[in-house]
Amino acid sequence: MSSTPCITITEVTKIFKTGLFKSKKAVDNLTLQVPQGEVIGLLGPNGSGKSTTMKMILGFLKPTSGQILICGQSSDTKMARSFIGYLPENPRFQKFLTGTEVLFYYGKLLGLTGLALKKRVEYLLEMVSLKQANKERVQGYSKGMTQRLAIAQSLLNNPPLLIFDEPMSGLDPLGRIEMRNLINTIHGENPNSTLFFSSHVLEDVEILCKSVAFLQAGKLKTYASIDSLIAGEEQRYEIVLQNISRELESTIFKHCPQRDVATGKSFSLEGPEKLSWVLSQLIEAKTKIVSITGQRRKLEEALFRANERLSLKEVSL
Ligand SMILES: Nc1ncnc2c1ncn2[C@@H]1O[C@H](COP(=O)(O)OP(=O)(O)OP(=O)(O)O)[C@@H](O)[C@H]1O
Ligand SMILES: [Mg+2]
Repeated sequence: MSSTPCITITEVTKIFKTGLFKSKKAVDNLTLQVPQGEVIGLLGPNGSGKSTTMKMILGFLKPTSGQILICGQSSDTKMARSFIGYLPENPRFQKFLTGTEVLFYYGKLLGLTGLALKKRVEYLLEMVSLKQANKERVQGYSKGMTQRLAIAQSLLNNPPLLIFDEPMSGLDPLGRIEMRNLINTIHGENPNSTLFFSSHVLEDVEILCKSVAFLQAGKLKTYASIDSLIAGEEQRYEIVLQNISRELESTIFKHCPQRDVATGKSFSLEGPEKLSWVLSQLIEAKTKIVSITGQRRKLEEALFRANERLSLKEVSL
């Protein structure tokens, strides 16, 4: 793998003219380097500059100042554009075309032809689980199907960089899980590809990404690996017990949050040392342990901590 970063954003600012004497700074002096093979989540409240950043990476918008390089090439060059597959915020296709026809159309625009194009389209329709729907016109597609077709389109020429603007937005819980699985499959099949996607859902970012960038009012507030953000925090455990005596409850779990659950009583505790001590006490007292679950510290809390200047309201996504 080459050591050239996949995306290099250097001191980029984007100011939109919004009236005769009015302007809006959508992105403010952004500097960011994304290595090849990384899955990075771009987070931030509405209007924080996520889509504007992506459109500048894609070369759709020109930065007011600063520079963006894609695999070493300036983002306003044809070469840089050929490196990128893009899923827009609201993908739309010609309604009267079928999914297959859409992919053939865009494949031809990319210079693919003949058997190679046919095989690629078949492969992608299978990958995004649209094989059965390939004869149906796009106008009959659900939101999830349209989203998956757009992902297939973005993968047509197997680009090293994928830019997905809110791939989960508008999907139901099952659709979101399918999309997460699809993103995992895409990256699993080509681990050298870089995936840069925006989202409002921290859980999706936490599950899929290696690192996260957090924008607020156009400024980069945090850029760190998820592991480093949540490292150093005590692991939290939930332990469910049946028929625990009041005496044990008041001694062992004196300061632990607790609640009743269908299978017994659940207690929350922090840290492996505390867990070991609690377990030894419970085993000695022959208490029935129904389950012990490790709970990863939530990225949301880590982001708060990483940027203590942000108030709760400011970070609400
Ligand atoms: N073409 C434009 N002309 C003027 N202002 C714009 C334009 N595009 C974006 N903006 C403004 O720039 C800011 C950043 O917008 P952007 O769409 O990048 O935010 P976002 O983080 O993608 O938001 P969302 O989460 O709602 O998708 C917003 O205040 C928006 O109103
Ligand atoms: Mg947006």
